[in-house]
Amino acid sequence: ARKEREKLYKILRMAADFFYRQLHHSSAGKVARDYLRKRALPDEVVEAERLGYAGPEWDGLLSHLKSLEMDPEAGVAAGLLGRSSKDPSRLYDRFRNRLIFPIVDDQERVVGFGGRTLSTDVEGEPKYLNSPETAVYHKGRMLYQISKARQACRQVRQVVLVEGYMDLLAFHAQGFYRVVATLGTALTPQQVRILGRLADEVILAYDGDEAGERAMMRALPLFLQEEVSVSCIRFPNGMDPDDFLKKEGLGGFEALVRGRKDLGSYTIHKTLDIWDGSTAGKTRIVSELQPLFAAVRQPIIRSEYLRLVADRLSLSEEVIQRQWMHSARNMV
Ligand code: CTP
Ligand code: MN
Ligand code: MN
Ligand code: MN
Ligand code: MN
Repeated sequence: ARKEREKLYKILRMAADFFYRQLHHSSAGKVARDYLRKRALPDEVVEAERLGYAGPEWDGLLSHLKSLEMDPEAGVAAGLLGRSSKDPSRLYDRFRNRLIFPIVDDQERVVGFGGRTLSTDVEGEPKYLNSPETAVYHKGRMLYQISKARQACRQVRQVVLVEGYMDLLAFHAQGFYRVVATLGTALTPQQVRILGRLADEVILAYDGDEAGERAMMRALPLFLQEEVSVSCIRFPNGMDPDDFLKKEGLGGFEALVRGRKDLGSYTIHKTLDIWDGSTAGKTRIVSELQPLFAAVRQPIIRSEYLRLVADRLSLSEEVIQRQWMHSARNMV
């Protein structure tokens, strides 16, 4: 199995080199070069991350691998090639007409790719396409740019978590490396554990839209369960970190970080803000907050959160706890 994995690492490296050359040295790559300029991603970042381009053909990488006498089946196992459902002997390039972000593990091995479409037809295909799970790529146990962040977090044990590839590279463009991103999936307990070893505090910097806020609040129980300190910042006007850094720079970001909120308190306040003042509303909110409290392990944190709720709803902490026990009894 180890030998199989070595084979995948090799073919993934070759694919990364191929995409890199397509970006820099092919005429088709001009569309991607223009796109990078439009997004104002500096050449140094493009080079350091070895970004690439997958052309529009269905067999660009496939032909390349064949010309190198590589086994195309290894390309399938590496998640680079798809298999036609009509004719299983026919293989095709999974990544087409996309800007390519190589995903590298702690040992600097290429393990997978993210690809952003350059096609303007927004209906057609997903904006981002990611490598599938393979023997060397487990997206729930990986974080984008973990290797650079690990080095940067040695001095300051604080790490920023963002949603997207472009958000992350916008930080690199500003010389800020204490940042990682998830890889197109919801945050997992394994990733939270990695973050907890990397730093003493995680700062969530998700997109400033509704989806970003929901994703952030959904992440809270994982941090509570793993006992990893987590705070959050919110970007104004629906901006994501990339939009914000372009407008306000690292200085603007640092100001937001100085005003960061503990994610638990933030979530509790948000939940309390929708209270309509009624008794039924109190009951609803107390029951809505129960899962959050069920995830809290540390007594001091629990007590602080409980006080927030009790004060705002004019209830004693004891009554809130009794309400939870009451609903638990009614459930069995
Ligand atoms: N994502 C994904 N598949 C999609 C859409 C998004 O995997 N169809 C993931 C990608 O990792 C993406 C992240 O979710 O980077 C955030 O999505 P979004 O905010 O839509 O993209 P941006 O990163 O802001 O990309 P861009 O600025 O290029 O539009
Ligand atoms: Mn897996
Ligand atoms: Mn978004
Ligand atoms: Mn975004
Ligand atoms: Mn964006």
